[in-house]
Amino acid sequence: MPALVLLGAQWGDEGKGKATDLLGGSVDYVVRYQGGNNAGHTVVVGDQKYALHLLPSGILSPGCTPVIGNGVVVDPSVLLSELSGLNERGVDTSKLLISGNAHIITPYNVTVDKVTERFLGKRKIGTTGRGIGPTYADKINRVGIRVQDLYDESILMQKVEAALDAKNQLLTKLYNRRAIAVDQVVEELLGYAEKLAPYVTDTVLVLNQALENDKVVLFEGGQGTLLDIDHGTYPFVTSSNPTAGGACTGSGVGPTKISRVIGILKAYTTRVGAGPFPTELLDEDGEALRRIGGERGVTTGRDRRCGWFDAVIARYATRVNGLTDFFLTKLDVLTGWEQIPVCVAYEIDGKRVEELPYSQSDFHHAKPIYENLPGWSEDITSAKSFSDLPKNAQAYVKALEEMSGAPISAIGVGPGRDETIEINSFL
Ligand code: GDP
Ligand code: IMO
Ligand code: MG
Repeated sequence: MPALVLLGAQWGDEGKGKATDLLGGSVDYVVRYQGGNNAGHTVVVGDQKYALHLLPSGILSPGCTPVIGNGVVVDPSVLLSELSGLNERGVDTSKLLISGNAHIITPYNVTVDKVTERFLGKRKIGTTGRGIGPTYADKINRVGIRVQDLYDESILMQKVEAALDAKNQLLTKLYNRRAIAVDQVVEELLGYAEKLAPYVTDTVLVLNQALENDKVVLFEGGQGTLLDIDHGTYPFVTSSNPTAGGACTGSGVGPTKISRVIGILKAYTTRVGAGPFPTELLDEDGEALRRIGGERGVTTGRDRRCGWFDAVIARYATRVNGLTDFFLTKLDVLTGWEQIPVCVAYEIDGKRVEELPYSQSDFHHAKPIYENLPGWSEDITSAKSFSDLPKNAQAYVKALEEMSGAPISAIGVGPGRDETIEINSFL
């Protein structure tokens, strides 16, 4: 049976949590493969709203096994409080599996994230301050702490020492901060060991055996294509690979096992944090999208920057992820505009450009070229099939599909599980 990837096609917050939850009832495993608690995935089930940061959204579907893959960075204190928060609300979290190879976000990684951002001043990235970049940097520098290290005290001590050696020099001499004591960090980390032990396992083996046994595995991306460290708007990106290839490296499942890659695509565009955003609106339309769409960060509470749909970005997402489908979300938010501009290409130095430029300076100078599509005023939140949508909403979806290069197989018309129009089945 197939493995499916579900990922963000823009700058994150496209509605991945809702889409994952929708499929959660029909899949056996939901796997996070990158990122950490920088993510904020909202799931609305009936009158209950959940904000998930580190846990895969499949945790809310009783038949589904949630997995934190080797590519994720795990803050143990956040994980434990997320688990207890869900337990208090009656959610069974006992099936969770965590890769022993996942890296741990240590307290000093969080400190380094915050001080480096402060040091960058106006050049800052606007990170979530959760220690994501410094933890991945330690991983690549081969001084990271892995979940399995919690179960060997002497190795843990040596590794924390190695990691803190250079960092303490930086913290005290460059950033004017106090040195961090190795013993204290080790003691804190050891305190998590027993609590996490029931979940820790060889997730690579579990997932591959599951696929051999015809189980369905869904990979849930965090962040989005344009925040990818390789394919995003570097340096204004996150420090992992949300794009489809990341699902393989971040889980140990080979690319031949993946049969479908679904891009979650908002019917307009949002971005949190710094960096270029060609269709950003700094006028009342941007304000209206923010208000109607409830565009406020789930993790940091920051207002999201808002703009019109950008087809150049959608085409790029189709290409770098090999998308087979789109799930278009938040179409309902666009109800009420007489005309809806859609960016079909960019103007860069007086020339029309159809594809995302690889050059950072070109992208910074890209001006959107808009086509105006006619809007609709009818409420669409109770639409159950494509034909229930007003003609202009149908035409908007069809135009986006044509420009974006992959079929739109589902449409979100509200935050709830059932506020979805399913066009082609994902399974
Ligand atoms: P994620 O990070 O990709 O999971 O997305 P977020 O949860 O950060 O942000 C998406 C927001 O849009 C959440 O508040 C969702 O409940 C909401 N949402 C998702 N799909 C729809 C939709 O089709 N219509 C509306 N109105 N809201 C949606
Ligand atoms: P979900 O999974 C939107 C952004 C931050 C910042 C940049 C780097 O909910 O879509 P980081 O803390 O990752 O080093 O910050 O990436 N960012 C997100 N933006 N949605 C997210 O996650 C994000 N996770 C990180 O705002 O610009
Ligand atoms: Mg989010």
